[in-house]
Amino acid sequence: MIRKPSRIAARDIPRLQITPPQILGPFYPVAERPDLAGDLARPAGSAAEAGGQLIYVRGRVLARSGKPVPHARIEIWQANAAGKYRHPSDTNPAPLDPNFKGFAQLRADAAGRYAFRTVKPGGYPTAEGDIRPPHIHFTVDGRFDRLVTQLYFAGEPENQTDRWLNSLPQPERLIVALSAAPSHLGASAGVARFDIVLASG
Ligand SMILES: [Fe+2]
Repeated sequence: MIRKPSRIAARDIPRLQITPPQILGPFYPVAERPDLAGDLARPAGSAAEAGGQLIYVRGRVLARSGKPVPHARIEIWQANAAGKYRHPSDTNPAPLDPNFKGFAQLRADAAGRYAFRTVKPGGYPTAEGDIRPPHIHFTVDGRFDRLVTQLYFAGEPENQTDRWLNSLPQPERLIVALSAAPSHLGASAGVARFDIVLASG
């Protein structure tokens, strides 16, 4: 039997699931410039570190084929440890942190790897009367795709009730566990791994 050569190379067969999208939300920064150093816990010009638990988030940006997405552009924005965004529309009475902007822009490296340091965000009340669990917003731009999503933390009670997280068939795909960071990275610091999968890259 003569077989026709396949037009699809084995390396291009999808083997990963696309990271589920989430809403952009009302607090995308409008009045801030992003920090470019990958360090939200101490943005440029801050006198001291932001309050809260230090966390290190790292991962890779991949296409469904499993190939890395080199040099993907990533934006991150989040509330401070008290659950307050530096945004004019945020009416939560929780205090701002003078050492926390909560907005950064990164680029993945040639192997799709990215990393940043921040503080774990607090949950916050919404205008609809819900409490949102702690989460970090992401937009990821590859060569072909843009993904808007949110990272959540394992063990947060509001993960069970959050309407945006639970709108997904598999909410657990956006929930990451924090593991203990090596002690030289800070007492009680946590590490989260969050790989992001785009459709085509
Ligand atoms: Fe949010």
